[in-house]
Order: sequence, then C-alpha cells, then structure tokens
Amino acid sequence: MESRTGYKQLFSGGCIILRRMQTREIVVSGIRPTGFLHLGNYFGAIRQYLHMQESYDCYFFVADYHALTTHQNPALLRTQVYRVLAEYLACGLDPEKATIYVQSDMPEKAELYLLLNMLAYKGELEKVPTFKEKIRGKHEGINAGLLTYPVLMTADILIHRATKVPVGKDQEPHLEMARNLASRFNQKFGFLFPEPVAFSESGELLKVPSLDGKGKMSKSENEMATIYLADSDELIRKKIARAKTDAGPQAPHSPKSPEIENLFLLLKLVSSPETVAHFEQAYENCTIRYGELKQQLADDMIRLVAPIRRLAADLQKDIAYLKKIRKTGAEKARVSAKATLQRARELMGIAYD
Ligand code: TRP
Repeated sequence: MESRTGYKQLFSGGCIILRRMQTREIVVSGIRPTGFLHLGNYFGAIRQYLHMQESYDCYFFVADYHALTTHQNPALLRTQVYRVLAEYLACGLDPEKATIYVQSDMPEKAELYLLLNMLAYKGELEKVPTFKEKIRGKHEGINAGLLTYPVLMTADILIHRATKVPVGKDQEPHLEMARNLASRFNQKFGFLFPEPVAFSESGELLKVPSLDGKGKMSKSENEMATIYLADSDELIRKKIARAKTDAGPQAPHSPKSPEIENLFLLLKLVSSPETVAHFEQAYENCTIRYGELKQQLADDMIRLVAPIRRLAADLQKDIAYLKKIRKTGAEKARVSAKATLQRARELMGIAYD
C-alpha cells in the first residue's frame, strides 16, 4: 500500500516496515509580490520552473510574508499577490503539474520559521550579503524580519523537505544559510532535512543584465532599464532603443564593452542561435549596426512577452478563478507541510500528548 507521504508499508515476517519509496525529487521556489515581474524573474526563475514541473515534485509560491520585510503597503498587497499568481499561470505554470500557492496561506511555515529561529545565530545573519546590502546607509527601519529573511526562506524550502531550489545567482547566500540550518537541526535533533542546493539547468546561475549596463534587472532599480512582463510592445521598443551602446568595434576581434556584452547576453536569451551568430559575426568584422541589433532584440523580446502580458491581464480579471487556484494549491501544499512540522516538533520535544 502506498501512502501520500511516499512511504510504502511492507509486510515482512509479520511486522510492518515503513520504507521510503523511490519518489521524485522535491523542488521549491517563490517570488516576492513587490512589483511587476520582469525578465530577470522570467529567465532567473520562471523558465526553470516550467521545465522542472515536468519531472519533479514542485512547489511554487508567492512570497508575500517576505514582501513585508521591505514593502508594507496593505492596500496594494492583494492586487500584487493575485498579479503574481496570474503571471505565474500566464507563463505556463500548471496547477495540475505543480503545487502553486501563497506563502501566508500556510501557517505551518510560520511555525517552522519560529522553530528554526532558535537555531540561527545573530552573527551569521548579520553577515549575509543581501542583508548588508539592504541596510547599507540605513539607520532606521531595520526590522527583525529583514534580519531573519534567510530563516523564513529556509522554512519555505525545508517545510517540503526540498532538495532543489531554482533561483537566480543573488540567492546563493540564502541557500547556504538553508543548508547550515538544515544540518544544524539534523545534528542537534535527529535527521529530518535534506540539504537543498540552488539549481540551474545550464549549470550556472543566471543573471539577467539591465539595459543601462549597471547590474541586473530588478524591480526596484531604474524602471527604464528593466523589461517587465506587463510592458506594452511600444514600451519594450522604447526601453531597448534607449539602451546604452558605444562607438562600435574599431578593429576586427575587438573585445566588447560591458554595454554591448549585455545586449548580446539579452539577445542570447530571446533570439535564435542563428540570429546571435549573425550579430556576433557582424561585430567581429566591424560591420555591426547597433540599431539593427536593437530592432531584432525588441522584436524577439516582444514575441516572448506579448502573449504572457495578454493572458496575465485576462486572468487578473477573473479573481474567482485565481482564488480557486490559491485555495486548492494551499490545501495540497499543506499536506507535506503538516507532516514535516509535526516531525520537527516531535524531534524538538514539543510533543506532550
Ligand atoms: N528570496 C527570494 C528572492 O528574493 C524569494 C524567495 C522567498 C524564495 N522564499 C524562497 C526563493 C524560497 C526560493 C525558495 O528572489
């Protein structure tokens, strides 16, 4: 007999043995609903989700608690949560294949976060690079939620006992924290959590460059340097047209400047290998026209973004449907969450019955 938790009851010599079944690896990832999703989210995370939902046991959620560490705007949250849900679905996440839910619909996670906080040291949390970056130059408003952000993220992952976490490169320090907390828990209280790793299909964690040549695409930086999944065709063209270029290669085989390197990186993400090869060749022999490159880049980007934008807009008009997805997803996700939390409580001694 096979149970939901993946254990198989075997009858052997009159006694029942519980043996772990060969089950699919578990995958967890989430995105904060702090603004419109952009190409950084798409290529850094969502595109991987699409592949992974085919062959893993996937849990994808909207990280609304995490959004509260930096964005406390009660009036906006509802719209933003439903928007991310709609964008997830419009990108191709399939509730029949993956479990899709909203973080705060799962109280078990909040409790595991509380338990894990007992294992996290103030010193190590203060050293996490993303925390240091977020508080740089700030003297007020540094809340404990921001400091313990990686602990909550660890709870997100460990509550499903996941092993693979598709995320962008910037999240690696959080994954390290998750591994540390998992192994600390296991050593202190007994084995419960596998140690999760950041996962990227290409083998390297992706960083999608912004259009101004400075850093990566992100929700909070320069809006004109980031392409959002909700951007109109005209806006995409305008943003790409405004991207910085240089004077062009002066001699064959010149190295590329950072701005041009970025445009090529984006081209590789959205265009065919033949198109990329064509422009590489043109750069090599100094015949490249950046105007043409930008035109092609805009065309290919629009081909990717426009259908997602349209479908997401339609879905956002049907809140009843999105609500149903939310509820069903949470129900499914809480099955594994309840089992993990129960075991964590027992191992830590919170078991008085
Ligand atoms: N910190 C992640 C980000 O900003 C979002 C996130 C929260 C997440 N919890 C997670 C990602 C758990 C993967 C797994 O992108």
